[in-house]
Amino acid sequence: MNRASDPRFAEQMKDISEVLFTEEQILKRVGELGACISRDYQGENLILVGVLKGVLFLLADLLRQITIPVELDMLAVSSYSPESRDQGYVRLLKDLELPIKDRHVLFVEDVIDTGLTLNYLLTTLRASQPASLEVCVLFNKTEHRLIDIPLKYKGFDLPDRFVVGYGLDHRERYRNLPFVGVLKAEALR
Ligand code: IMP
Ligand code: MG
Repeated sequence: MNRASDPRFAEQMKDISEVLFTEEQILKRVGELGACISRDYQGENLILVGVLKGVLFLLADLLRQITIPVELDMLAVSSYSPESRDQGYVRLLKDLELPIKDRHVLFVEDVIDTGLTLNYLLTTLRASQPASLEVCVLFNKTEHRLIDIPLKYKGFDLPDRFVVGYGLDHRERYRNLPFVGVLKAEALR
């Protein structure tokens, strides 16, 4: 199952220099994370929280690998732009719908780079006094980390490259690629 070589992806593949993680590798790891989460939160009142839109793909797969009762809620924030990278400024566009006070919250994120976005969101969620607040991130970039955030569940470490696919986008494109690949510099405009 290597859909990177499926000719129907050719138009998008011309912008990809290298596939880092195949669909198979990603789903296997997501399965492992789901199993760990199911074991660790057995008997607890678990709610997964994610930020639109990139994490939808991960959430859909992860949720189906969690075997204990679990609920889901979403936040929406103003989209990340390279210019805002140093500012750590995130605008909340959509708040949670479910109350999280005294709930065990697992914040699920597709990729963490500087940590600024995540830090802002965790601070916001903490104000609602959850019983616990932990983080599950699929792709971890470490080189530009500005804020140290404990990651209870981590999928893969990523090199300092701009990657797309499996929900990750560049200007809203490439989310539909089933694998994660490095975007060529010339496509990074
Ligand atoms: P941070 O605040 O620097 O940790 O940025 C996290 C956000 O930046 C993620 O939620 C993504 O939206 C975006 N991001 C960081 N690196 C990448 C990447 O390689 N591909 C796609 N989006 C990325
Ligand atoms: Mg994101």
